[in-house]
Amino acid sequence: MAELVTIVLASSNEGKLAELRSLLAELPVQLVTLKDLLGEHPTLPEDGNTFEANAVQKARAAYQLTGLPALADDSGLEVTGLQGRPGVRSARFSHERATDAENNAALLRELEAVDDEGRVARFRCVLALVVPGVEQPLTVEGCVSGSIARDSRGGGGFGYDPLFVVDGFEGRAMAELGDAEKNQVSHRGQAARAMKPLIAQLLSNQLDEAERIAG
Ligand code: IMP
Repeated sequence: MAELVTIVLASSNEGKLAELRSLLAELPVQLVTLKDLLGEHPTLPEDGNTFEANAVQKARAAYQLTGLPALADDSGLEVTGLQGRPGVRSARFSHERATDAENNAALLRELEAVDDEGRVARFRCVLALVVPGVEQPLTVEGCVSGSIARDSRGGGGFGYDPLFVVDGFEGRAMAELGDAEKNQVSHRGQAARAMKPLIAQLLSNQLDEAERIAG
């Protein structure tokens, strides 16, 4: 059997961890957290203006702390009627240490008087992988379109999933999809599927080839 390669995930978000473990399950990879390795999750720098800048910052920091290949996910919700907010501030929309419930309540409040057009939204995810010996982080992106409901539904997923009605799913919210269905359609699922061949290349030590695929 192939040896497992350890990759550290630069996130303390249990929802992201569970989804990425499932999405990368076919690879001979063991995804561990900084908490697993260091006993606590350090606060990582995340002050960029784009998902890509933040994902790269977090992956670089996790690599520097551990010396291991490091994967980071920066993701969030962009709402048309809020001119793309909450965007990179999705986790901190209501306040700095907000819970998902507080963020969802804040989103519903801000959209109270907003019509269907303004409720059009998308989730975006950038995954960044920093690998020892490769200077440029590898980045990939995924995106899923939908709209913001007027009330919460479903118990699956995390974050804004109870409010995000996925295009093409008969009015169902992301939180009403099963785990496999969410992975199939989600921004993170798309990004992970783009990242898989890059990780596979890295595992076979063909680093140059992986950089070439990433462009
Ligand atoms: P980050 O840790 O700065 O990348 O923040 C990501 C935030 O975006 C999460 O805390 C959620 O609020 C939101 N988010 C990202 N991905 C998802 C998802 O798959 N479902 C629901 N909310 C998400």
